[in-house]
Amino acid sequence: MTNVTAIAGDITTSDADAIVVNLFDGVTSPSGATGIVDKALDGAISALIADKEITGKQGEIAMIHTLGKLPAKRVVVLGLGKREKLSANVVRQVSGAVGRYLERIGAKRAATLAHGAGIGGLDAGTSAQAMTEGTILGLYAFTQYKSRKDDEPKKELQALEIIEQDIGRLPALQAGVAKGTLLSEAVSIARGLVNEPANVVNPVKMAEVASDIAAKAGLGITVLKREEMIENSMGAMLAVTQGSANEPRLIIMEYKGDPEHPDNNIALVGKGITFDSGGISIKSAGGMWEMKGDMSGGASVIGAMHAIAALKPKLNVFGVVPAVENMPSGTAQRPGDIIRAMNGKTIEVDNTDAEGRLVLADAICYVKEKMGAKRVVDIATLTGAIVVALGHVTTGVFGTSQTMVDAVLAASKETGEKMWQLPMFEEYKRQNRSEYADVKNTGGRPAGSIAAAFFISEFTDGVEWAHLDIAGTFMAERTQGHEVKGATGVPTRTLVKLVEQLAAT
Ligand code: BES
Ligand code: MN
Ligand code: ZN
Repeated sequence: MTNVTAIAGDITTSDADAIVVNLFDGVTSPSGATGIVDKALDGAISALIADKEITGKQGEIAMIHTLGKLPAKRVVVLGLGKREKLSANVVRQVSGAVGRYLERIGAKRAATLAHGAGIGGLDAGTSAQAMTEGTILGLYAFTQYKSRKDDEPKKELQALEIIEQDIGRLPALQAGVAKGTLLSEAVSIARGLVNEPANVVNPVKMAEVASDIAAKAGLGITVLKREEMIENSMGAMLAVTQGSANEPRLIIMEYKGDPEHPDNNIALVGKGITFDSGGISIKSAGGMWEMKGDMSGGASVIGAMHAIAALKPKLNVFGVVPAVENMPSGTAQRPGDIIRAMNGKTIEVDNTDAEGRLVLADAICYVKEKMGAKRVVDIATLTGAIVVALGHVTTGVFGTSQTMVDAVLAASKETGEKMWQLPMFEEYKRQNRSEYADVKNTGGRPAGSIAAAFFISEFTDGVEWAHLDIAGTFMAERTQGHEVKGATGVPTRTLVKLVEQLAAT
C-alpha cells in the first residue's frame, strides 16, 4: 500500500523519481506551481500546450524528462478537467489514474501538489483525502495467488508526498491523508474479502476475519453458530444453509460510541452469501463464478466497522453479517418449501435462488429483538433486476423511512458512490403474496428489485429502515480512476460517512 504523506516544502526542489503537477482544461499558460516548474523546464509544458499535445482534460497524462533541469528525474503533467467541474470525485479519479501511471513507469517515490486545493476551490483536507483514496485504491491489486518469477522486479509506488508551501494548510492536509488512508484500508478489506474465492472465504472464514478486525480495533464481537440459530428459531437462515457442507455464522460486530444512550444506534446488515449457486433453483454456468462476491454487502460492513472504530463517532453501531453458503444437495431446501422466520412469519420458498432476502430477514429480526436496533440499513447483492434498472453505475436505494433513505443519499453524494432511490409504492407489495404462506420469496419479473425490497420490509416493523441493492455495483468490469477490475468495495465509504453524519446530528 502506497504510503501517502503531506509535507511542507517546495515541489521544485524535490528529488523524487517523479513530480506531478496539474493543469486545468483550456489553460494556455500554466500558473502556480505548474508555472514555476514550466519555467524551470524552459517552457516545455507551455510548448506541449501550444502544440495541443496536452489540453488539461480530465485524467490526461504527459511526461517530461527533466534532464537535470530539476532535481526530480521526471515531471508528470496531470489533467484536472474543467475548473468549474472540479470536485473531490474528480480528484479521486485522476489520482487513481496517475498513481497507476507512476507505478507503470517504475517510479517508487513521487511528489505532488494538493490538486484543486488552490484555484480549484476544494478545501485542503478534502483534496488530500480524495488524493489518498484515489492513489491507494487505484493501485489496489489482488495478486496473492499469482506466482511471480524472481527476475521480474516488482514495480511499486511506495511513497507519494503531497508537498505544500503554505505551512498553515499542513494540518488539514495531514488530517485528510490520515482519513483517506483509513478509508482506503476499509475499502481494501472489503475488496479483498470479495475477490477471495468461495473455497477460501466461507462463512467460518468470514467470521474469523471479522473477529481479527474486531480484536485489532477494540470492537465487541459475537458469532452465532447453527445451534444458536436453532435456539432463536431462525428458520429462514437455517433453510438457506441446510444444503451446504459449510457451517453458517451470524456475525455481530459492535462499536459503542454512545454507551449512555443505547437507543442511539444503527445496525448495518450486510448480505453474506459466500457463494450463491442458486441452490436447487440452480443458476446457469456462465458467470456463476461472480457469485463468490455475493457476500459483498457483508464485506462492506466489515470494512466500514474497521474505519468506524478508528473514527469514534458518537453513535452505537452494530455490524451484522449473516454468512451462509447457498448450495444444491440432498439436504437443500426445495422450491415450494414453507419455512418460518424468527419473527414467526411463514415464507413460501418459490425459488431457492432468492436466498439473500431469507438470510436478511432473520438477521434483521435478530438485531431488532435481541440487540435493540432502532435504525437498520441493509446492504445486499440482492437482485439481477437492479442491474437491468441501473446498470453497473448506480446502487439502488429503497426504504420505509424517508429520513434514512435521505441520510444514505446524502452520504453517497459526499463519497461519490452513486445511488438512486426507487419507489416503494404499496401497489408492488401484492407481488409477494403466497397461496399457502404469509409471504412468498419471489415477486415475479416486473420490478424485481422493488418486490425484493418489499419482502425485506416484512421484517422491519418498528425500525427506521433503508436497503441498498448493490448487485450492479459490487464488481467493476474495468479499471478506471480509483476502481480496479474486480471488487469495488462499494458502499464501504458511504456506510462510514452515513454513520459519521448520523452521529453529528
Ligand atoms: N445474488 C443474486 C443476485 C445477483 C445477481 C447479484 C447478479 C449479483 C449479480 C440473488 O441471490 C439472486 O439470485 N436473485 C434472483 C432473485 C429471483 C430468483 C427472484 C435474481 O435476481 O434473479
Ligand atoms: Mn440467489
Ligand atoms: Zn444471492
